[in-house]
Amino acid sequence: MPQKINFSVASIGKEEEEAVLRVLRSGWLTTGKETMAFENEFAQKIGAEHALAVNSATSGLMLAYDAVGAKEGYKILTTPYTFASTALAARHLGAHIEYADIEKDSYSISPKAVEQKLEQDSKNGRKIKAIVPVHIAGNVCNMKELKAIAEHYDVKIIEDAAHAFPSKTALGFAGTLGDIGVFSFYATKTITTAEGGMITTNNDEYAKRMQVMRLHGIDRPIWDRYTKDKASWEYDVVDAGYKCNLPDVLGAIGREQLKKADMLFEKRSRIVHRYNEAFKDADFLTLPPDGEGNAWHLYLLRIKPEMLTISRNEFGSLLQDQGICISMHFIPHFRMTYFKNEYGLKAEDFPNAQEHFERTITLPLWPDMTDEMADQVIDTVLSIGKAHHA
Ligand SMILES: Cc1ncc(COP(=O)(O)O)c(C=O)c1O
Repeated sequence: MPQKINFSVASIGKEEEEAVLRVLRSGWLTTGKETMAFENEFAQKIGAEHALAVNSATSGLMLAYDAVGAKEGYKILTTPYTFASTALAARHLGAHIEYADIEKDSYSISPKAVEQKLEQDSKNGRKIKAIVPVHIAGNVCNMKELKAIAEHYDVKIIEDAAHAFPSKTALGFAGTLGDIGVFSFYATKTITTAEGGMITTNNDEYAKRMQVMRLHGIDRPIWDRYTKDKASWEYDVVDAGYKCNLPDVLGAIGREQLKKADMLFEKRSRIVHRYNEAFKDADFLTLPPDGEGNAWHLYLLRIKPEMLTISRNEFGSLLQDQGICISMHFIPHFRMTYFKNEYGLKAEDFPNAQEHFERTITLPLWPDMTDEMADQVIDTVLSIGKAHHA
């Protein structure tokens, strides 16, 4: 049996270990100065006015949707080709989802489909509060076009940037290109705090609202109420807020990961380059979309079933049989019971999402993968393709 190649392994060193110990020994474990420092450092890195650390991107999306008024009676507009929580975060608020297909050649929401949906919406009472482009795998959506459309129809843009740190484009970092950006620091992401996320915005009002709703609807920051010389126990609850704060133990990991972000990105890019070089001439493969500033969270390789005697699922199983841990991103919402029941979604209404899903296999990609591991993945993909070529 060949060596098993893991799908994703977090890159954690002694710096993160020491940071966690520092916090554990400090006596202050929950949100405090470490997480606040992480917020400031993150805001500075991507050039955002405000950065709010949260316990997940899912929480961050919910707070962002709330901030733009996506509540019962309103909707957000996104694609079925994303993780469930892009949509579920709106459902938690009582808001609904409108779906637009992705582009033919990328996993990004199609500006043309967005325009059509917003045109319809403007005749149906303008229920859509925000477009939610998802920068799948770190490949940034067509933000220039989406911004022009959003302005025309007077809707907000909330970037689901869960995969897109650090995606740097000529317009700025992903997550700063719309009204609010939401990042994930889940265990497999480009930087991690085990679980966690960050919301960024340049809008003071949104920042204030999200800060209040992040912690029980409390009207002011209260981290320092036990540590200030003159403790202030008094606060008010002004709305039915949530509990979405990021504790210092995790904030401290985030600070160390942030310092390494560019190095981790370089390491991911090296593996991607190796994959791309090896796969570019294979007639049964299509390389992943590679737009400006791709953060390379995932390597989404597309197979061409018409060139093979096996399906995408069979191809994936053969890879797994040979020790290559893979995934399939993303199972579109129209294949999931909840979304099918709630919205009557059908695959034929989203031909691009359906086609991409039937072709895509996500290969292992993590910073400390060695060239030998990458070569084992490459050799296995190419030999399966050769053995099952039509
Ligand atoms: C596109 C997308 N959005 C949102 C999320 C939610 O992130 P989290 O696990 O931090 O809540 C994920 C998680 O993987 C995701 O892939």
